[in-house]
Amino acid sequence: MPINLHNRHLLTLKHHSPQEIDYLLNIATDLKNKKKSGIRGNILSGKNVALIFEKPSTRTRCAFTVAVVDEGGHPEYLGKNDIQLGHKEDVKDTARVLGRMFDGIQFRGFGHQVVEDLAKYAGVPVWNGLTDDYHPTQVLADFLTVRENFGRLKEIKFVYVGDGRNNVANSLMIGAAKMGMHFVIGAPKSLFPDSLFVKECNEIADEHKSGAKIEITDNPIEAVKNADVIYTDVWASMGEEAIMSERKKMLNSYQVNMHLIDASKNQNVIFLHCLPAVKGYEVTEEVFESEFAKQFDQAENRMHTIKAVIVTSIGNL
Ligand code: CP
Ligand code: NVA
Repeated sequence: MPINLHNRHLLTLKHHSPQEIDYLLNIATDLKNKKKSGIRGNILSGKNVALIFEKPSTRTRCAFTVAVVDEGGHPEYLGKNDIQLGHKEDVKDTARVLGRMFDGIQFRGFGHQVVEDLAKYAGVPVWNGLTDDYHPTQVLADFLTVRENFGRLKEIKFVYVGDGRNNVANSLMIGAAKMGMHFVIGAPKSLFPDSLFVKECNEIADEHKSGAKIEITDNPIEAVKNADVIYTDVWASMGEEAIMSERKKMLNSYQVNMHLIDASKNQNVIFLHCLPAVKGYEVTEEVFESEFAKQFDQAENRMHTIKAVIVTSIGNL
């Protein structure tokens, strides 16, 4: 059956099939090549896109903005102090108003239920640009970067070290389960992902017969053995800044440094980070500036993959 993502939300990645994820990555590659060859598109001509941000953002905001403009649409940034949402107006009403005016809505914020409610009531596609629980557009960029480096996702050993229960780790686990990867989390026991969530991801892998393998360990050296990808994220996510000193103690031995890169015993290993990075904490300057580091390719790919999400759901294709 041909793949059609028209009018689809992107809230967690749970509702996208492996074929649909592959399709989005293929479209992203086409759009990347198109942009690199200097072609300006018009797939979003006449389309207005609302960008709601309750939390700060560099990459996601810029990726959505440039993606929409590149294809002839209009992005409208709505910061947390610019609109009534969360002050005077509830999510349901804001959703119904924005849905009357915009063709698609991006939401970045705290509670995941907000993006679910926006999707329920807006009547137009809603894309999750990060909530406390999930960061699905990030994973598309991460997987495109892996594909560009290794030519495939299946059976890639993808190791995430650090806070094993944050939004990025959660979304990576869902994506890896769908795409048949060998996904490992190296984290202290107190930051292991929720066991029910791991069970859910194993069920996703079974449902799609993807062949994915998910492992959780508190031994970072064991975790990275034979890794193709070593990934980390900040030790305290947005909203958790007050517990950074506690996290520093918990996560000190999970820092991605040259010793950990060497422990992969793979000279072709790549380092990824969703960024922003707190260098000296979750990653050393040495790794960040090394030949293994691909985080800026990954950051660029946010734009191409987000563009793929938008054009496939609201574009004039
Ligand atoms: N990776 C990411 O989402 O970056 P921003 O917080 O800058 O959007
Ligand atoms: N886990 C991080 C990701 C930032 C892109 C956070 O939520 O702050």
